[in-house]
Amino acid sequence: MYLTPEQEAMLKGEYGWSTAKAMEIIVKVGESLGAENLVKIVHAHISGVSFSNIGEHGARFIRDFYEKGGRARVYTTINPGCVDYSGLQSIIDNSLINAQKDIDNALAKMGFNPVFTCIPYWYRPPSPGEHLAWGESSAVIFANTFYGGYTNREGGPIALAAAITGYTYNAGLHLSENRRATVLVTTAPDIDRQVIGAVGLWIGDNIREITVIPFAKHLTFPELKILLASMAASGSHAMSVVPGLTPRGTYIEEIEEKIVIEKNDIDKYIGDEYPRGSSVLGYVGCPHTTLMELMEVARLLERYGSPRKGRLLLTIPAEYTERYRLLINRLKSKGVEIAAGTCPVVSRLRKKYDVVVTNSGKAAFYLRKIHGLKVRITGLREVIESVYA
Ligand code: F3S
Repeated sequence: MYLTPEQEAMLKGEYGWSTAKAMEIIVKVGESLGAENLVKIVHAHISGVSFSNIGEHGARFIRDFYEKGGRARVYTTINPGCVDYSGLQSIIDNSLINAQKDIDNALAKMGFNPVFTCIPYWYRPPSPGEHLAWGESSAVIFANTFYGGYTNREGGPIALAAAITGYTYNAGLHLSENRRATVLVTTAPDIDRQVIGAVGLWIGDNIREITVIPFAKHLTFPELKILLASMAASGSHAMSVVPGLTPRGTYIEEIEEKIVIEKNDIDKYIGDEYPRGSSVLGYVGCPHTTLMELMEVARLLERYGSPRKGRLLLTIPAEYTERYRLLINRLKSKGVEIAAGTCPVVSRLRKKYDVVVTNSGKAAFYLRKIHGLKVRITGLREVIESVYA
């Protein structure tokens, strides 16, 4: 692989142990993928930081980089960890707070922004053609598809190494010729957009290639977030093309196959009906909610009093603004539980519910797979009704 004199010096240790180690990781992975050189990045997003997922071994890996001098060379954000820093809720188990704080302190001291969110584009939206090194599959697919940013689906260690060096390997979706969409996907007219998360799970599960998804043009920003995150959860998708939305010049469209998703295709992803009287955890915020979604939840809650059949949990970034705060207070007065900087997938729940009702395909996928929970996918309005009506 060709390295510039600066990159060679990093690799030789002239910038310290952490930079050398980080460069070694990137070069090794790049060489295994056939990359001919490295590319400068403008934003790294570090995933794989939840103590409940990475354990003491992963925590030590991160602390090593900090203790041996690793510092951010580019703007860097951090994915959610396994604890709620807001103290606003009673759903997420915070017993791992000290272990998580150890990781978070090391990351923050390296100069990474402690937003603890899976929507890093909320803090710094990428521009078309910008090179990024992002972990977190839902953010990666959103960056490539909606913003026309160029990023692969990085694992936590590579994103960390890219943050420390400011470079990543030039392969995969960093190369324009690989951003080629070949499968056109449409949906039958009777598929309700309320279950767009289930549509995403079907695509992820059944298609390997980069897709063109014209129907997504009519979705709202939150719905698109849910669709793309779901595709990336059940499959290896890292980008898609929404004609009229995905920035021109950031993809090549050469359709070789056309697929129509029928209503009965998605039934198994939606999940079964659940019996009356079940205790329900309504969950909204996978990926994390934006201000717009919180406003919509507050509006839908206007006609209800207190929760009647369980709890409603919302998850938001750890750094929230004053406008978030006002809405949070309004939602809290309705008995809504709000967790900041985490989510039920990367953390543990304090108690078990009979069923989780959510608008998110990604949450459904992982809560079923990792936590063994019964999950039903439905629209935002129905999630609220499932708890309050
Ligand atoms: Fe974010 Fe957790 Fe979903 S990290 S994308 S809310 S699984």
